[in-house]
Amino acid sequence: MPSSAAMAPGTGRWGCLVLEVAAALTQLTRTPGCCGSRIIGGHEVTPHSRPYMVSVSFEGRHHCGGFLLHVRWVVSAAHCFRDRDLSTGLVVLGAHALLKAEPTRQVFSIAALVQHPSYQPATQANDICLLRLNGSAVLGPAVRLLRLPRRGARPPLAGTRCRVSGWGFTSDFEEPPPALMEAEVRVLDLSACNRSWQGQLSPAVLCTRSGDRRWRGFCSADSGGPLVCGSRAHGLVSFSGLWCGDPKTPDVYTQVSAFVAWIWDVVRRSSSPCSMGCSMGDV
Ligand SMILES: *[C@@H]1O[C@H](CO)[C@@H](O)[C@H](O)[C@H]1NC(C)=O
Ligand SMILES: *[C@@H]1O[C@H](CO)[C@@H](O)[C@H](O)[C@H]1NC(C)=O
Repeated sequence: MPSSAAMAPGTGRWGCLVLEVAAALTQLTRTPGCCGSRIIGGHEVTPHSRPYMVSVSFEGRHHCGGFLLHVRWVVSAAHCFRDRDLSTGLVVLGAHALLKAEPTRQVFSIAALVQHPSYQPATQANDICLLRLNGSAVLGPAVRLLRLPRRGARPPLAGTRCRVSGWGFTSDFEEPPPALMEAEVRVLDLSACNRSWQGQLSPAVLCTRSGDRRWRGFCSADSGGPLVCGSRAHGLVSFSGLWCGDPKTPDVYTQVSAFVAWIWDVVRRSSSPCSMGCSMGDV
């Protein structure tokens, strides 16, 4: 299993076969990462124009995306942290080109990981987590917060234009992208998406499509990054099919609006007087 990949839940007979073949090919061409792991059909963004974007790295390598919610909190996907040693994780804010030295960067370690209590690895249900930073981010032109949907907000309607960004690789040979990439996508009708996924989608997800005949969307190392619709984070990159961008297996996101109350509850509780000394179980 690709460790950093957003994988489909039980992909069925076909999926299993294809995955096995692909896994064999993967061994030959690259280290773990399903399907080329890249923002598909996207473009490089203007530096620091997405100042809420976070790169989570392990052992010095970009692993997943996320976004800055609060000076001490980042929202990401729960699957990004399975089998990971948090003490080796770093959260990088204010980045654009990960391979360059950038004075705008702020680097934190992960003081606590709060996974959604109902996250289910087998189905990727409730694929969301919060990371508490070991210090407070200093907000400025390159580091800003991204808003959640309003409490009780509905997910964006099918056809809504949104954008997804990330530092996922740009080729099947693990070439890192020159810098932060982004693709514009459209929200896809959920029942149509569920049919494409043979009825395997759990509640509280969102899907997108490219909006034209090009393949467009996210891939594995983009996991955890936000789908921004209007000016709010409505989705979190969760999983896609074997071939990223393939319209037969539409991109699936965690539907953030379903978790707004939980998120603020976690943040509020940890800001209580015990927070500085709280153990992870307390948060
Ligand atoms: C937080 O972690 C980073 C990265 O490990 C470290 O450089 C920084 O000094 C830490 N900050 C605090 C306040 O402990
Ligand atoms: C997908 O379809 C299955 C089977 O009909 C259903 O149980 C599930 O709730 C649906 N998922 C979504 C997100 O609508």
